Amino acid sequence: SWTSESFVESTVRELREKLGDDKVVLGLSGGVDSSVAAVLLHKAIGKNLYCIFVDSGLLRKNEFEDVLESYKNMGLNVKGVKAGAKFLGDLAGVADPERKRKIIGRDFVEVFNEEAIQIEDVKWLAQGTIYPDVIESCSVNGPSATIKSHHNVGGLPEKMNLKIVEPLRLLFKDEVRRVGRSLGISEQLIGRHPFPGPGLAIRILGDITPEKVEILQNVDKIYIDSLRAAGLYDKVWQAGAVLLPVKSVGVMGDERTYESCVALRAVTSTDGMTADWVHLPYEFLANVSNDIINKVKGVNRVVYDISSKPPATIEWE
Ligand code: XMP
Repeated sequence: SWTSESFVESTVRELREKLGDDKVVLGLSGGVDSSVAAVLLHKAIGKNLYCIFVDSGLLRKNEFEDVLESYKNMGLNVKGVKAGAKFLGDLAGVADPERKRKIIGRDFVEVFNEEAIQIEDVKWLAQGTIYPDVIESCSVNGPSATIKSHHNVGGLPEKMNLKIVEPLRLLFKDEVRRVGRSLGISEQLIGRHPFPGPGLAIRILGDITPEKVEILQNVDKIYIDSLRAAGLYDKVWQAGAVLLPVKSVGVMGDERTYESCVALRAVTSTDGMTADWVHLPYEFLANVSNDIINKVKGVNRVVYDISSKPPATIEWE
């Protein structure tokens, strides 16, 4: 029967045979899959694994610094690249969700390539692809292929001629988590909610500005921290906040306000293909709403999304 310990043991052995003294490059996203792939490869080939972690400027508040620090603590050879200005510059004025995804996907590839090409004599590109990704990219009519295009780091320059290595290719998500735990990766990282590659860009409806990113980061932080503090984080499959492209009238003291509205979303799911909204306690929602409106300048209204998938989707874009 399958155990994470025997998977780690046999995979490390196979990776050593396959890769020898070759150099390998891998893009870290902060998510579970790429992190587990990196630690597994690191266990097999040590410093010959070169990791690149790109800050798109669209991550959660402090996420880039925090995650980079934890990668370093795990002993990974990782280079953090701050590229927020490029992403936000290229996204300026773009409101269409699929155009946002294309620009972000292209920018990731460009930034990643620029770094990868500097690793002398690199032979392999490692990816944290898991079994559901393999199936999804084969099914032409899969929902994500037609409804929302997910991007992946790929498309390296031909001349680099990299071979692909995907050590998690046959695993399901729960197996990846078990492997991660047996590799000693922190529960904080293993238990993280899924987060879309395009990040907050698809949670800011309409065009994106640095000010909107900052507002949403602050809202999201209050929401996620509150979920953790209330012991609800692990009961939810994914949660996040959405900045809506509407303003509404409010009142603060005896002043009229005319500011933004945010929607909070929390769902249960097994694979993201279907999802139910979570019946978060009213008390919890009341406190989070107060906290957000009192602390985040520019927001005067909070709503809670009570739609399930289908017919809605998890993300609003
Ligand atoms: P939807 O919104 O399609 O989301 O119900 C299902 C799951 O996929 C994530 N998602 C994405 N992930 N790139 C990604 O890497 C994307 O463009 C993307 N769009 C949605 C979403 O967060 C949820 O977990």
